[in-house]
Amino acid sequence: MILQNEIALVTGGSRGIGRACALALGREGAEVIVNYNSNAAKAEEVCHEIVKAGGKATAVAFDVGNVEATQTAIEALLKEKKRISVVVNNAGIAKDGLLMRYSSEDWDAVMNTNLRGAFIVSQAVVRPMMKERKGSIIHMSSVVGLIGNPGQAAYCAAKAGLLGLMKSMARELAGRNIRVNAIAPGFIETDMTATLTPEQKEMMLKQVPLGRTGTAEEIADAVLFLASDRSRYITGQVISVDGGMSM
Ligand SMILES: NC(=O)c1ccc[n+]([C@@H]2O[C@H](COP(=O)([O-])OP(=O)(O)OC[C@H]3O[C@@H](n4cnc5c(N)ncnc54)[C@H](OP(=O)(O)O)[C@@H]3O)[C@@H](O)[C@H]2O)c1
Repeated sequence: MILQNEIALVTGGSRGIGRACALALGREGAEVIVNYNSNAAKAEEVCHEIVKAGGKATAVAFDVGNVEATQTAIEALLKEKKRISVVVNNAGIAKDGLLMRYSSEDWDAVMNTNLRGAFIVSQAVVRPMMKERKGSIIHMSSVVGLIGNPGQAAYCAAKAGLLGLMKSMARELAGRNIRVNAIAPGFIETDMTATLTPEQKEMMLKQVPLGRTGTAEEIADAVLFLASDRSRYITGQVISVDGGMSM
């Protein structure tokens, strides 16, 4: 097991990519804190699976878009656990619409959850990491943060913003042996993409050289690599896991 003695926080760990990451981290020996927003039953299910396999996991509710709630929850976690050594800033929402008709309320909601949430969580966990001189923070960006997408201006801006945040954090924290990287998933089958019409899916697939959608587990494999010492000389990088979509 490559993550024994690590304590990992996965935001949005109740479903989709976050769920797969939480399960994979648990399988590799990390104690997992499974954050969720509203779906307590799904988060408990993930914890149950980790515990059933011999691991340790706790579900913790907080909305990463709510600064106070996030800070209070992470403060309480740190009081109890003393440190969090791996963070996967995965919580995210999509609110799509063409620029001309896009509301500033939707813009703020997407930014607050997808970008500011990652900043608030990172800021809240980083102090004990600095003391320990050890940590790995992974932001879940997106292929569309690299190449853009019509109808997703806010989402793409937030996902591109995460890359700027990631690189600045990587430079600020490298001296304390805290590595910060990002993953840019392509088209992954989850609840988030389940709302696409068959025509939209077909259009997306035409842009994927490997010719298929990705799985949440394929993203989790990249997370395991970045979370573990196997990537110990890697910081400030974005790994595309997108079937070749962004090349
Ligand atoms: N699916 C894709 O094709 C794809 C591609 C590129 C990037 N991504 C990114 O990967 C991440 C996961 O996506 P997914 O497809 O797995 O999405 P998903 O199936 O919709 O799951 C979203 C997860 O985020 C949580 N969440 C949403 N808002 C939250 C908030 N304000 N605070 C805390 N947790 C919150 C949800 O919790 P609840 O269960 O409590 O609602 C859920 O666990 C997102 O950042 C997404 O943008 C996805």
